[in-house]
Amino acid sequence: MKKKALVVLLAMAMVFAFMLSACGGGDSSSDEQVLKVVTEATFAPFEWTDEESGEIVGFDPDMMAAIAEDQGLKLEWVNMEFDSLIPALESDQGDIICAGMNKLAGDRADKADFGDTYFKSRLMLLVAADSDLTGLDAVTPDMKLASQIGTTGGDMVKQMQEEGKIAEGIVLNQWTDCYLQLQNGEVQGVIVDKPVGYEYLMEHSDIAKYVGEGFGEMEEFAFAVKKGNTELLDKLNTGLANIKANGTYDELLAKYNMESE
Ligand code: ARG
Repeated sequence: MKKKALVVLLAMAMVFAFMLSACGGGDSSSDEQVLKVVTEATFAPFEWTDEESGEIVGFDPDMMAAIAEDQGLKLEWVNMEFDSLIPALESDQGDIICAGMNKLAGDRADKADFGDTYFKSRLMLLVAADSDLTGLDAVTPDMKLASQIGTTGGDMVKQMQEEGKIAEGIVLNQWTDCYLQLQNGEVQGVIVDKPVGYEYLMEHSDIAKYVGEGFGEMEEFAFAVKKGNTELLDKLNTGLANIKANGTYDELLAKYNMESE
């Protein structure tokens, strides 16, 4: 009889321990390790560097912080050039990419494992406030367009140059430099992600405007981990599902005035 009671007690203890670990409470290994999130932080409202604190802030850092809290993970953010992000995962310089990155573009999905989509968007054309350009269709072979290196917009301006649709597609490391080129009249337009173009216009409608429709393929933004790191990817996906279910994700969209398409 006594033995039976002991077996029942043991079984109960095991079930309890399992429940604890399933909630993330018993997982001490992930509590200690600080995961490096790599990004390119000139992409407001998704990520930019706060001038006063020097910290990387925005929708992506807030979303990842909520996911990390849900999953008991610790994160540290590292800023680098956009075309260095996937190589950083491959060479273990970073554990996670979160950078408004479209998981459908090019061969990205062959080089990194992407999570569930957290935002959908297209590209837009920004032109000078006093420009006569009416949209991407109206661009002529004497014009120059700028975008960021390694991005969907960067690939598009390069392709337009190859096809002779524009004189030059200029690809730069930072979005801030693309805007500067537009401001200085070096280029006639900048191709940028819609929410990012809108954000720029909020404070720079004296310099630039948005013309035409959104274009390009519908982009699906997702975080990514090194190929094969399913354990981490599963945690991030679970965290994302949880913050979508508990309303945090929607609060963050509202905080940054963003709407997914
Ligand atoms: N959505 C575009 C892409 O995936 C641009 C992303 C740029 N992101 C950044 N943090 N600079 O290529």
